Amino acid sequence: MAYPYNKREVVRLVDVTFAYNGSPVLERVNLAVEAGEFLALIGPNGAAKSTLLKIMVGLLRPKVGEVRLFGQDIRRFRDWHRIGYISQNASHINTSFPATVAEVVASGYYSGLKGLFEGSTRKRMVDEALELAGIKELAGRLIGELSGGQRQKVFLARALVKRPAALFLDEPTTGIDVSSREEFYRLLAHLNREKGLTVIIVTHDIGAAFSRAQKIGCVRDRGVYIHEKLSEVDQDHIAEVLGYRIGENHVYL
Ligand SMILES: Nc1ncnc2c1ncn2[C@@H]1O[C@H](COP(=O)(O)OP(=O)(O)OP(=O)(O)O)[C@@H](O)[C@H]1O
Ligand SMILES: [Mg+2]
Repeated sequence: MAYPYNKREVVRLVDVTFAYNGSPVLERVNLAVEAGEFLALIGPNGAAKSTLLKIMVGLLRPKVGEVRLFGQDIRRFRDWHRIGYISQNASHINTSFPATVAEVVASGYYSGLKGLFEGSTRKRMVDEALELAGIKELAGRLIGELSGGQRQKVFLARALVKRPAALFLDEPTTGIDVSSREEFYRLLAHLNREKGLTVIIVTHDIGAAFSRAQKIGCVRDRGVYIHEKLSEVDQDHIAEVLGYRIGENHVYL
């Protein structure tokens, strides 16, 4: 049957099942994210949130089901510059090598755009990404000298350098203090609202995420349950996933 492509669709999973060594961690997952959406994925450790994100950005290929990016089967998809991805352990990389912030951000090209732009255009795109991430003044600093919060913004700039239409982030604010976290979320919300960037983020920062996301996806029991508005039923379900009710044990930022 022909697949009806919605022009605004960024990513779609159709009946996706994914297994590691024969044990499924996701089963018959259906999910669609449209352009301009801000989707927060939550769920307990080991629920397969990172796995889900990796499937969406093509790092893991499910044997069962279909993954589509911008309406195209991911197996034929080539426009990788339209996608930005920050992995869960991005901040754990060895930052002792003597690279500057601008160099780290520029390295974001090498996934997808290599050789497409002149040096001067590249420089402009790096500057623009630094500006978008609010770290222009850090351009010449060594990556190893930065605080965790500053470093996360460098990875954000690195993911933005290709001017992606959609950004996939896997727990980008782990280990970062509350105010830097809040600033990071403000930045994401700004990019989402003002630049139309589609944001798909895995997070345990429930308060920060809920105040920004239009949709919440609960990953549990090998499935993904999407809540578009936080009705009572949704609240109950999310409370079950989290083990507490939002607003009771958790403060909105
Ligand atoms: N490379 C792998 N090989 C085998 N099993 C894996 C692999 N990666 C993840 N798993 C298993 O798949 C399940 C889902 O892992 P995943 O990393 O997607 O969870 P998560 O929801 O991101 O958890 P966390 O909140 O801890 O980051 C876990 O049971 C994990 O042990
Ligand atoms: Mg994870």
